[in-house]
Amino acid sequence: MRSLLFVPADSEKKLAKGSESGADALILDLEDSVAAERKPAAREGALAYLKAHASHTPRPRLIVRVNALDTGLIDADLDAVVAGRPDAILLPKAEGGPSVIHLDAKLTAREAVHGLPDGAISIIALATETAAALFLCGTYRDSSARLTGITWGAEDLSAELGAETNRDATGHFTSPYMLARNLSLAAAASAHVQAIDTVYADFRDMQGLRREAEDARRDGFTAKMAIHPAQVPVINEVFTPSAQEIEKARAVVDAFAADPASGVVAIGGVMYDRPHLRRAERLLARIKPA
Ligand code: COA
Ligand code: MG
Repeated sequence: MRSLLFVPADSEKKLAKGSESGADALILDLEDSVAAERKPAAREGALAYLKAHASHTPRPRLIVRVNALDTGLIDADLDAVVAGRPDAILLPKAEGGPSVIHLDAKLTAREAVHGLPDGAISIIALATETAAALFLCGTYRDSSARLTGITWGAEDLSAELGAETNRDATGHFTSPYMLARNLSLAAAASAHVQAIDTVYADFRDMQGLRREAEDARRDGFTAKMAIHPAQVPVINEVFTPSAQEIEKARAVVDAFAADPASGVVAIGGVMYDRPHLRRAERLLARIKPA
C-alpha cells in the first residue's frame, strides 16, 4: 500500500471519483471531513460503498476512519460499517497501545455478531493527534495482532498545542510536528507495522507534495495519505521501488542465500552485512502484491 486517499463518506460524488483515482487504499471518512449532522449519511454511504465494492478484483483496500474513542460516536460508526467488512479501521486520536486494545475488543464483538472471522478487520492508528499521544508512541508494540500500520497527523495536534501554524514559510513542518512524525516512524518500526506519512494539505502544490513524500521515503515511511485524487499518482510514483533498487535488493538477498553461513558479503567492491540484508528483504516484501 503506497497511497491512501481520504474520501468524505457522505459524498457520493467523491466516493465515485475515489474508485477511479488509482489509490492503493481509500479511507472512507466518518470523522473530521464530515459535519456532525451528516454522520448518519456518512455511515450509510460508507456501508453502501463497502457492500458494492467488496467483491471487485482488483480493488483498493477499503479503510474506514471512524470517530475517536471518546466521542460517543464510534460505536454507532462500527455498528454501521462492520457489516460491510472493511479491510481496516483507521483510529483517529489514538493514544498508544491501550486505545488499540480498546478498538480491538469492539471489533471482536462485532465480527462475532456479523459472522466474520476473528481478526478479519485490521487497525491503523493515527498516533500523534493529541499531546498525550506523543508520550505513548512507545506502547504500540504487541498491543494487538490487528495493528498493521501507524500514521500521524499535524492538524489536531497543532490545535491542541495552541500553535499559530505547523509549517514554516518554506512549507516544511516546524519542529513539534517533525517530532510527532519521527515518533510515529519509530512507533511503526518498533511495532513491526507499516509507517504511513501524513497528508499534504496544499493539494495544488505537486512539487511540495513530491518533496515531502521523497523525504518520507528516505526516512523509512513506505506510504503517504492523500486528500485529493491528483496527489495519488505522485505518491504512487515516489513509493514504488525503482527497477534499479529492486535489482540491487535481489543481488543482496541472493548473495546471502549463496553463502548462508556468512554475516557479510561483498558485491561490486562494497560490503553488505545483516542490516543491509534486512533492508533488501523489506524492499522486496513491498513489491509483493497485497
Ligand atoms: N476523493 C474523491 N474525489 C475527490 C476528492 C477526494 N478526496 N477531492 C476532490 N475530489 C473530486 C471533486 O469532487 C471533483 O470532482 P468533479 O470533477 O466531478 O467536480 C474533482 O475531484 C476535482 O476536485 P477539485 O475541484 O480540485 O477540489 P474540490 O474543491 O472539489 O475539493 C477538497 C477540495 C479539499 C474539499 C477535497 O479534495 C476533499 O474533500 N478532500 C478530502 C478531505 C478529507 O477527507 N479530509 C480529512 C482528512 S485530512
Ligand atoms: Mg483530524
